[in-house]
Amino acid sequence: MVKQIHLNGFIQNSPSPHSTGLWKHDKDQGTTHNSLAYWVEAAQILERGKFDAMFIADVLGTYSVYEDSHHAAAKGAVQLPAHDPLIPISAMAAATEYLGFAPTISATYAQPYALARQLSTLDHITGGRVAWNVVTSYLESEAVNLGLSSRLPKELRYDRADEFLEVVYKLWEHSWENGAVVYDKDRDTFADPMKVHLINHEGEFFHVPGPHLVEPSPQRTPVLFQAGASPKGRDFAAKHAEAVFTKNHSLDALKEYSADIRRRTKLQGRNSEDVRIFPMILPIIGSTEEEAYAKYEDLTDHVSYEGTASLLSGHTGIDFSKYDPDQYIEDMETDAVQGNLDMYAKDPNKKWTLREAVKNHGLGNGTVKFIGTPEQIADKIEEWAIEGDVDGFNIAQTYSPGTFLEFVDHVVPELQNRGIYRQEYEGKTLRENMFGKGHVHLPANHPAKKLGITQTQ
Ligand SMILES: Cc1cc2nc3c(=O)[nH]c(=O)nc-3n(C[C@H](O)[C@H](O)[C@H](O)COP(=O)(O)O)c2cc1C
Repeated sequence: MVKQIHLNGFIQNSPSPHSTGLWKHDKDQGTTHNSLAYWVEAAQILERGKFDAMFIADVLGTYSVYEDSHHAAAKGAVQLPAHDPLIPISAMAAATEYLGFAPTISATYAQPYALARQLSTLDHITGGRVAWNVVTSYLESEAVNLGLSSRLPKELRYDRADEFLEVVYKLWEHSWENGAVVYDKDRDTFADPMKVHLINHEGEFFHVPGPHLVEPSPQRTPVLFQAGASPKGRDFAAKHAEAVFTKNHSLDALKEYSADIRRRTKLQGRNSEDVRIFPMILPIIGSTEEEAYAKYEDLTDHVSYEGTASLLSGHTGIDFSKYDPDQYIEDMETDAVQGNLDMYAKDPNKKWTLREAVKNHGLGNGTVKFIGTPEQIADKIEEWAIEGDVDGFNIAQTYSPGTFLEFVDHVVPELQNRGIYRQEYEGKTLRENMFGKGHVHLPANHPAKKLGITQTQ
């Protein structure tokens, strides 16, 4: 059977979160992100296109590295406003049947006991269509608004996230046994208390006795997404993630990333294909190649320089207001998003000036652009999927939800005609649609399954 491609849609609860300034475009509806109609429409488009999931990025702070101020971010709508990613999900689930939802929640600022309850509740009411994008957060402004005096060092953030996952695994997988809920009216028993266990977690960061507040949901553990790019982030993904997102601007960089993730996954005692790899792409579609390139120019004209520079400053932790636009971006270690800096600082093919990086970063957060006719974009998708050894793509947008709409109307049928993309969903839960029918729960070789709890009642 030819390789089957999976797709996710990349979005955020903000006006034009990944293409700075595109809220000004005539075709953009991002400024209506504060309405349910916007979310329901976007979800229905993705479901019509048989996408696995809507991936909802999030930050809990402002982009205020640039000029040490939030002003450029506020002026340019640079992920500000930033509304909650979880709240629209129930409404979207009610308007769809198969589409999964992958909200981002930070393991640095959430509490595992409460987060486990939120995601279990969503997994129940969506019928098993929820994922969690586990992030460790990169903005200083998140730390200072959420109870810390400054951002934790990256190593510590990942250590905390590792223990965080241990706690939620215990709650999701081991607190309530299968068959605990009996609904026995004659014995006045809703659940058999002998099958509802404390987890008694005692660790370095968390003390959580339990038990979990929610009876087992269809998937128990939501599908786990991750996007770490540093060595520690990659090890974290290799240990825990079922799907990883990555952002590259060359096929060579993608090849290196996917080979490395698959190698690290095996070192964790898992199979290399247990982690689905989804690079992000930005499609710019025209009925001719010429039209597509003209469209690219028009979209670029809508990008805000200062807004994008403030986005890039937040992503990399470097205040680019101090840079000359023609200065080269320097290679260094950052406590923000290493992958975002490496894209420009470690590119073996080119030295990037700030001006060039800003131009690139302004559309689709700097990810690779596939520009052309639907056939040309499908060719690229096939080439990158096979040569890059990846399982599918995360589709970014310029104007929203119009980019999704054009992709679903023009590129999806082309992929289906080539026999490399589903005509129908395989299952009802998100994990089944990503891993195949019957794969409702985490596999036995996942670390969540191997944990034990001290079983006291
Ligand atoms: C494609 C992609 C999407 C990401 N989305 C988010 C996000 O929505 N929110 C967030 O706080 N971090 C996000 N990140 C950041 C990572 O999850 C991670 O916390 C960050 O990259 C720092 O770790 P690293 O240096 O190991 O990459 C994303 C990263 C990538 C590559």
